[in-house]
Amino acid sequence: MTTTQPFAERLIDIYASAAMTMMIDVGHQTGLWSALAEGPATSQGLADRADLNERYVREWAGAVTCGRIIDYDPETKLFSLPPEHAESLSGDTGKNRAMSASMITFFGTQMKPIVKSFREGGGVPYSAYRPEFTDLMDEMRRREYDELLIDRYIRVVPGLEDRLRTGISVCDIGCGTGHNVNILAGEYPNSTITGYDIAEDAISVGNAEAKELVLANAKLEVQDAAALPDDAQFDLITTFDAVHDQAQPQASLDETFRHLNEGGLYLMIDVKASSNLEENLDNPMAPWMYTVSTMHCMTVSLAEGGAGLGTVWGEQLALEMLGRAGFTNVEIKPSTNPLNNIYICRK
Ligand SMILES: C[S@@+](CC[C@H](N)C(=O)[O-])C[C@H]1O[C@@H](n2cnc3c(N)ncnc32)[C@H](O)[C@@H]1O
Repeated sequence: MTTTQPFAERLIDIYASAAMTMMIDVGHQTGLWSALAEGPATSQGLADRADLNERYVREWAGAVTCGRIIDYDPETKLFSLPPEHAESLSGDTGKNRAMSASMITFFGTQMKPIVKSFREGGGVPYSAYRPEFTDLMDEMRRREYDELLIDRYIRVVPGLEDRLRTGISVCDIGCGTGHNVNILAGEYPNSTITGYDIAEDAISVGNAEAKELVLANAKLEVQDAAALPDDAQFDLITTFDAVHDQAQPQASLDETFRHLNEGGLYLMIDVKASSNLEENLDNPMAPWMYTVSTMHCMTVSLAEGGAGLGTVWGEQLALEMLGRAGFTNVEIKPSTNPLNNIYICRK
């Protein structure tokens, strides 16, 4: 009893946190976090604000009150969201992290085929995750890139912004919905910015945005990173969280090197972790990273008979693979996102 008791308690805590993840997602999808951010309200008041059924809202509010996410005053029956919690769960800034819960609950929808892959090998293809994955990824990253792309990624390399202002050719590989492509195209009109991704739905979202913003220097195309068009040549190539889940990541890095002009730069934003499990034990995000890998990043690669690097491929393996591709001059800088490193690779 004495030895198992602490773990049994921890397990209760783990399940309670998992339950809160579901409730955070419900709050995000129903607009209840925004409704609570407007100020204290009863369950009926919240239901009215968010146009929802009161009985459901009351049960949800009970869950997130006991999860210590919101406060409850039994005298007035008012629920309230502390401002510091409101910042992380509502609003239009990159600090709103509620959609990370949506990603976790969404990955749960693939549980059956993933368990099958544990038994039979193979994996769950990217197509099984779309279109939801495309939308969730966009929702998770869009605001972060609006706030940080220029300031924290481009300006991290001295002189790069001057070159972009003068005019260079840029490619973002695995660009998803291409929001970064469109930000760069708008900010640096003398540069041409190309975005490649294998996902047709993501590329059409990016093209629609480029059209709406009237960006003549943005070009988004469906393209496999492992075999870039022969005539494509760039001064700057970027990948944002887009190498480790590819089917053929080494071929993709080889292509990146091959299609980069002499003196060019490759910025690889990818997961900050060690390639050695034992060195990740103290990383508080490591359980999340290995889970996301199992539930998505590794399995989509294995589904194509790919390398299955996984989210936690780590710095050591990343440097080895970059070296194999030809990048011998690599500097690693921390990103503002604690999950990522910025690999600055010079050709
Ligand atoms: C984790 S998402 C990141 C998307 C985007 N860069 C961002 O930061 O939001 C990885 C992207 O890589 C794309 N991808 C995966 N394999 C690819 C391949 N072989 N060629 C091109 N894109 C690929 C996926 O379709 C997906 O959009």
